[in-house]
Amino acid sequence: MIDIQKKYSIERRDFQSAGQVSSSIKKIMKQVGVNPEVIRRVSVASYETEMNIIIHSNGGTMEFVIESDYIMLVALDKGPGIDNLELAMTEGYSTATKDVRELGFGAGMGLPNIKRCADQFEIESEFGKWTKISIRFEH
Ligand SMILES: Nc1ncnc2c1ncn2[C@@H]1O[C@H](COP(=O)(O)OP(=O)(O)OP(=O)(O)O)[C@@H](O)[C@H]1O
Ligand SMILES: [Mg+2]
Repeated sequence: MIDIQKKYSIERRDFQSAGQVSSSIKKIMKQVGVNPEVIRRVSVASYETEMNIIIHSNGGTMEFVIESDYIMLVALDKGPGIDNLELAMTEGYSTATKDVRELGFGAGMGLPNIKRCADQFEIESEFGKWTKISIRFEH
């Protein structure tokens, strides 16, 4: 019977720590023997979510839950929020600045990729205030 819950905080613009949260999540999934194909999908989704918080928000948290039949990621950040969710979900749409693009981010593929990897995906935002992303994987 698996029942693991962890909550991470993610700082804005903290490129030094970029990827640490998704690495920790991946390590835990390996330790408890999650199916490699599910590990791959959860890892892509957690990494893209973590990077979006670092790049686009003013900081936030990511919760990770493994139950015996599903895995959940719930990310909540403070920040500019997203004015047009449909546009943000469009492949190739990005507001990333030049300095961020020079680091290799800003293809506008993160959110569409997260959705593709997930069994259930929900994005909510209050423009100017916060963004919340809930991602569920069956396993
Ligand atoms: N947590 C967030 N807070 C505010 N805006 C966000 C957040 N996540 C995404 N966005 C907005 O949605 C756009 C699309 O996000 P997406 O992850 O698809 O692309 P990207 O981060 O710009 O580039 P890539 O992920 O390919 O490096 C972003 O450019 C940004 O405008
Ligand atoms: Mg992104």
